[in-house]
Amino acid sequence: MKLFIQTLGCAMNERDSAHIIAELQHKKHYTLTDNAKEADLILINTCSVRQKPEQKLFSEIGQFAKEKKQGAKIGICGCTASHLGSEIIKKAPSVDFVLGARNVSKITEVIERPKAVEVDIDYDDSTYVFQSPQTMGIKAMLNISIGCDKQCSYCIVPFTRGKEISIPQDMLIKEARKLVANGIKELLLLGQNVNHYGVRFSHTHPKTNFTQLLREISKIEGLQRIRFTSPHPLHMDDEFLEEFACNPKISKSIHIPLQSGSTRILKMMARGYSKEWYLDRIAKLKSLVPDVGIGTDIIVGFPTESDQDFEDTMEVLSIVEFDTLYSFVYSPRPHTRAFEYDKSMLVDARVAKERLARLQNAHKQILTRKAQAEIGNLHSVLIENHKDSDGECWSEGRSDTNKLIRIIGEKAPIGSICQVRVVKNDGGSLFGEIIDSCDKEEK
Ligand code: SAH
Ligand code: SF4
Ligand code: F3S
Repeated sequence: MKLFIQTLGCAMNERDSAHIIAELQHKKHYTLTDNAKEADLILINTCSVRQKPEQKLFSEIGQFAKEKKQGAKIGICGCTASHLGSEIIKKAPSVDFVLGARNVSKITEVIERPKAVEVDIDYDDSTYVFQSPQTMGIKAMLNISIGCDKQCSYCIVPFTRGKEISIPQDMLIKEARKLVANGIKELLLLGQNVNHYGVRFSHTHPKTNFTQLLREISKIEGLQRIRFTSPHPLHMDDEFLEEFACNPKISKSIHIPLQSGSTRILKMMARGYSKEWYLDRIAKLKSLVPDVGIGTDIIVGFPTESDQDFEDTMEVLSIVEFDTLYSFVYSPRPHTRAFEYDKSMLVDARVAKERLARLQNAHKQILTRKAQAEIGNLHSVLIENHKDSDGECWSEGRSDTNKLIRIIGEKAPIGSICQVRVVKNDGGSLFGEIIDSCDKEEK
């Protein structure tokens, strides 16, 4: 039996897809295919965070229904499945089942049940032990919590993934150890609000928090790097920032979603922090880790956003100089508080688009400048890929600050850490030379 899976949305969805694949491989003997036409089961793992991809879903289902081989099943999973539930089957009768983002552990059961709809957002699979992925490189994702308690006024996620529940710490340590024993060198800890870890568990649990979890995971021998996404700026206390700075296993790259630089808009978004708080946390972080890599998410054109509000966002961008930016025009989402706002509060679509373009251009300029300043810098690079064939020889990996660097002329072992000096910047792509090895591989 062959499985085709298309994954949209964020890292949580990617992780859910990895769980679905592992469950179906181990328990139902599926193998993966990247050709939907030969699949016995076609899954779309959907995202609901903005309107457009959700609208596209039905044309995609139509396309798969046309292409699929006779008898093949189509299943819709993920956040749009949670959000639209049985409506999906009503609108697209070719769909065989619907499995919500909070119900991933039921995958082996729903594929056997015609027209099953499992979308309960109170379902708790926080203590379910998923099968391990069959193929592992050197990186793995580890889910530390499910759901989100925050209810930001624009966001549909709490309505697709339910309330926040942390996964017990001993389960996480056990899973992390297993992954490392299988060759994993870098762990990406996942949750909608990772630094809220430990606030609620399904069962009684010793008191803990995210900083403590980081300390425990970093004790695992053989694990080289820990990353996580996303921390919430509101919960970035000094203890957390100091652990981030001082723990050598924690990658010095961090995603800190800003959403808006205007305190007035942040208040309407119910983010719980101000522009000043955000900048204070960044200043503290940069004082502890001067070369830290910082990523962010920004929404432009939130209802009532004025030119001045947008200038506040531009100001934060120019102060922080983000290394990565995911930016979006505000998209009204059902269930959310902002969805109920009067139409007169909406920002003109053309204005919002112009603001987005200005923001992205300013970010591009920052990146160009920063890439230029990288020449001569030294980085610890964890090697992820290499090639020595067809006349090409190189290794590639990421620095501790999450910069992709290619080393020409060297085939360093995958999973090793090399000291690399940046020697060239080609349109933002960085090239380096090894100055301290890592055992080089025989050519
Ligand atoms: N938990 C994360 C974000 C998850 S959603 C956090 O708190 O930041 C991923 C990103 O999608 C958000 O950071 C936000 O920038 C964007 N997003 C969410 N809802 C949106 C909406 N209604 N319109 C536009 N962008 C949105
Ligand atoms: Fe959405 Fe806010 Fe939760 Fe992030 S913290 S998932 S933006 S409600
Ligand atoms: Fe992620 Fe999209 Fe759901 S961003 S949490 S897959 S709505």
